[in-house]
Amino acid sequence: MAEGKNNVGVPGLLEMKRRGEKIGMLTAYDYPTARILDRAGADVLLVGDSLGMVVLGYDSTVYVTLEDVIHHTRAVARGADRALVISDLPFGSYEAGPERALNSAVRLIKEGGATAVKLEGGVEVASSVRAIAGAGIPVVGHVGLTPQSSAGSGGFKVRARTAAEAREILRNARALEEAGAFMVVAEAVPAPVGEMLSRSLEVPVVGIGAGSGCDGQVLVSTDMLGIQEEMTPRYLKRYAALAGEMDRAVRDYLSEVKGGEFPGEEHAYGMENGEREKLWGPEED
Ligand code: KIV
Repeated sequence: MAEGKNNVGVPGLLEMKRRGEKIGMLTAYDYPTARILDRAGADVLLVGDSLGMVVLGYDSTVYVTLEDVIHHTRAVARGADRALVISDLPFGSYEAGPERALNSAVRLIKEGGATAVKLEGGVEVASSVRAIAGAGIPVVGHVGLTPQSSAGSGGFKVRARTAAEAREILRNARALEEAGAFMVVAEAVPAPVGEMLSRSLEVPVVGIGAGSGCDGQVLVSTDMLGIQEEMTPRYLKRYAALAGEMDRAVRDYLSEVKGGEFPGEEHAYGMENGEREKLWGPEED
């Protein structure tokens, strides 16, 4: 990592929670977007495995490979000067146990250039969190709705609508914190549950669909920028409508190409003085 890069840092995020400053996190998958988000002041860029659905066109995150995440992390890491870069351990890269999880995490750091890794699950992945954190790699947990295992656990639906379920999620989040996670993402849980998690853990809890009581918020950048318009969860606020803007720009371009209006003189290169006339004359030696 180049000197002076990623100056938010893990201690910086813990300090933000301590002084009550909200953490602003967004997903990123490529270099130009990472640069824009970083320069706008995002604290954390997450190379989420949502990559599979919002960039690679899959209908699930389970098809995303470790190589996919490494490839996109490299681009994001090159574009992030200030923000901390966290990469997701994709489905299949950690479930086999702590050794496999650590090997995958090392690859995201060494080959991808991430600063930290994130994995989904609770008590059942605590030993993997311990192994990764024990090797000196900052690690983030992810509780509530966990998309990688959503097919077997109720689909893309809000979790912890009952107090018993909420306590179960808290138990999982505590296990992650005890194992060494420096941050926990809480997805799709009622606002009071997000607040309870934030107040119960020492480490920051960043919510997505977890209400305003969390220590920070994360959104999928393509959703909040309106590049992707299919996803309409209740928690999503669109801050732009870029798909419409891109559609308009592409239609204008195509119509100008077909109508011969583009390129105009101002977009064309000229020749040196007197050379143009010679193009159609006899060849000179
Ligand atoms: O993959 C992802 O984008 C995520 C966020 C939804 C937190 O895990």
